[in-house]
Amino acid sequence: VQKKPPAMPKSKSSYSVQTLFAPVQIQLELVEQKMLNLDEMLFTPLAERVIELIESGGKRLRPALTLMAAKMNMDEQTDPDSATIEHVIAVAAAVELLHTATLVHDDVIDDADTRRGVATLNTRWDAGSTVLAGNYIFGQAILLAAQTGNMRVINIFSDTLQVLVDGEVHQLSARDDYGQDKSLYYQRIYGKTASLFCAATEAAAVLSGLEEPAIKQIRDYGYNFGMAFQIMDDILDFTSDEATLGKPAGSDLRQGTFTLPFLHFAQENPDAVSSLRRAYSQNMAKDDPQWHTLVDEVVEMIRVSPAIAAARQEAADFLTEAKGNLANLPANVYRQSMLDLCDFVVERTY
Ligand code: IPE
Ligand code: IPE
Ligand code: MG
Ligand code: MG
Repeated sequence: VQKKPPAMPKSKSSYSVQTLFAPVQIQLELVEQKMLNLDEMLFTPLAERVIELIESGGKRLRPALTLMAAKMNMDEQTDPDSATIEHVIAVAAAVELLHTATLVHDDVIDDADTRRGVATLNTRWDAGSTVLAGNYIFGQAILLAAQTGNMRVINIFSDTLQVLVDGEVHQLSARDDYGQDKSLYYQRIYGKTASLFCAATEAAAVLSGLEEPAIKQIRDYGYNFGMAFQIMDDILDFTSDEATLGKPAGSDLRQGTFTLPFLHFAQENPDAVSSLRRAYSQNMAKDDPQWHTLVDEVVEMIRVSPAIAAARQEAADFLTEAKGNLANLPANVYRQSMLDLCDFVVERTY
């Protein structure tokens, strides 16, 4: 398998995510190795594609959070080489693989052609094979979760996979629904994104042997962090560009997926979105150049509207909550990184 150079766009943010990962760097490298450890008997083309996908990079936020949430509560003197840290590394790898598989499927659903700056699998393989590759990665994730031998962790994974699918299906069914309530947006982003951050942090807390109230605090951090993370992703889809993001920009609205900036904007300016509404009611195809022109116009209006700041404020509010969730947990370098990561979420450009 040929190695590709890392494809991550350079951060223009003052918060370098890699610096924030420093306390868990050694374990993160072990997570990388674990993810790449595939069955030798695996069909070569599939193995090559899966390895390429994993090596195409990504911020590795979810496994980093799993490692931090666990190490925050582990005794550095007695635990460093224990079975517990082995299990935490397996879970961190499982979380990132679950994420990778959902991206593979998401790009099929959205017909997206780039991800992490490289061509998506669905541009090179037919949809059927791509979906199957995603399924394989899901299987690999569950296998790693099962290595913990911890029933609760295995349950968290199975449950999260169901919630993720439910969130994506809800999003699909809400496409082009101009009458939708904003509350459904929060349900969807919990399902498709925050639920996995909950799993990443809750599984870590369970493995580090915490009592229920502390597990809940850590899971709540994952929830609030994940909600803010998806809101910022939805903002960047309006305000950023493909070169910076490594994936298509402006694509949510083009597909009729209404995210928080749009919902704020449409509420304040119903007339400004009536062109889209009309085109939709006239069955204009999403690949019609006229549709693209209409979408570009509305994206431009939203970019410079107060809707962006309003959405950003909501993300900031979730992050304030997330920081509060850590207030009673051990004040060490891991907790500090989890607090700093909250600032990264609103500062990030990629
Ligand atoms: C992308 O997640 C999908 C969302 C939930 C918004 P990331 O932005 O974490 O993607 P990578 O892993 O860094 O590519
Ligand atoms: C996250 O939402 C999708 C998943 C959880 C798979 P998006 O559809 O916004 O993710 P991107 O923008 O394609 O990464
Ligand atoms: Mg997408
Ligand atoms: Mg997005």
